[in-house]
Amino acid sequence: MASTADKKVPKHLQPLKRKHTHKKKVESSPAAVTAAPPRVHEEENRVPATISNHHINTLIPNHFYNASNDINQIFNDHSASSPQLFRWTKGRRFVSSQNVPYPLPNDQTELDRHRVQFYIVRWAFESRHITPPPIKKRLFEGINVLDVGCGPGLWVGHPIIDMAEDFKKSTFDAVDICSLLPTDQPTSDNFNLTCHNVTEAPLPFESGTFDYVQQVMAAISYKMDDWPLVLAEMKRVTKSGGYIQLIEPDMYPQQLGPEGELWRDQIHNALRDQRGYEPRIACHLERLVTELDLEDITVKYVSVPVGSWGLDIGHLWEQNFDAFLESARPFLVEKMQITNATYQANTKKLKEELKSGEFKAFNNIYVVYGRVK
Ligand SMILES: C[S@@+](CC[C@H](N)C(=O)[O-])C[C@H]1O[C@@H](n2cnc3c(N)ncnc32)[C@H](O)[C@@H]1O
Repeated sequence: MASTADKKVPKHLQPLKRKHTHKKKVESSPAAVTAAPPRVHEEENRVPATISNHHINTLIPNHFYNASNDINQIFNDHSASSPQLFRWTKGRRFVSSQNVPYPLPNDQTELDRHRVQFYIVRWAFESRHITPPPIKKRLFEGINVLDVGCGPGLWVGHPIIDMAEDFKKSTFDAVDICSLLPTDQPTSDNFNLTCHNVTEAPLPFESGTFDYVQQVMAAISYKMDDWPLVLAEMKRVTKSGGYIQLIEPDMYPQQLGPEGELWRDQIHNALRDQRGYEPRIACHLERLVTELDLEDITVKYVSVPVGSWGLDIGHLWEQNFDAFLESARPFLVEKMQITNATYQANTKKLKEELKSGEFKAFNNIYVVYGRVK
């Protein structure tokens, strides 16, 4: 018997294929759906090594399900604590280093975007701490955790800071290319941030140091070719029996309008051709962790609507998408060799299509984890 949650998913996406669907009581109340998003059944997804089980979930309001059978896949400036130089382009602040190809700024606007983005991810996966289930229990007992590319500015509400606050017996390390942590404010005793470029040198930790290593939203931090190397480093510093987890949105909003899809594809081509980034890295993670020879590999994703049709979370995700396009503008106008005016005009067309309500766009956010043998 399919669970109630399964019935919320469009037929072609249901994990258990059924020919009929039953109306649910909550279908007439989309507000109730966004207030209580579907559960993610982690235990159901625990599978043996190299065989993954995609759990399909969605935050798309129920009343759209009947109409969406054609959906293919529902789916402050701080005083810095480390020596670093910044450059300013088009009013945005970036890390200034030849060796750091990261294309996004690190100013307050961008940090705010990260903050909201992670709240959306928490909402999507219904969890304050999104970790593999075996790790969740052990965090109370006291384990060593590493966050790779944690973000330069850390705040209450940042996933790794909240973990350090909630699990005092565990220790938390984090690395990022730069730190914007204020020098005059102490962080928790059980938390340490190290400035480190992970594509330039091995992680600054002994092999087998950590019980759990996570990385969140690194899609355009590394070139496609660098991913296996970064993951191999993450594996090296993880103990046998420890877990590695990756959280990535598939940066490919689906079901945009025609102008929006054209603009999305042009942006993706520029990210791939100009820098070797893979904006759809989320869809490659299962293969990458399989090649890493992990066991207990689990792949889950949640579909998050973009735009007002998705109610509150749709509005929030749309705002985050807009903020991302704005953050990526200085990099993209240079690489695409277009003017700001052209960039803004194309972005405006994408947004107008979304606002028209005709297109029910969405992104899938992936959580992929596995255990080191
Ligand atoms: C999109 S942000 C995500 C931050 C954080 N994980 C979050 O979810 O809010 C990507 C982060 O990766 C960091 N980063 C990019 N390239 C890096 C590298 N080569 N080594 C270490 N960190 C890097 C950036 O500085 C940035 O803070």
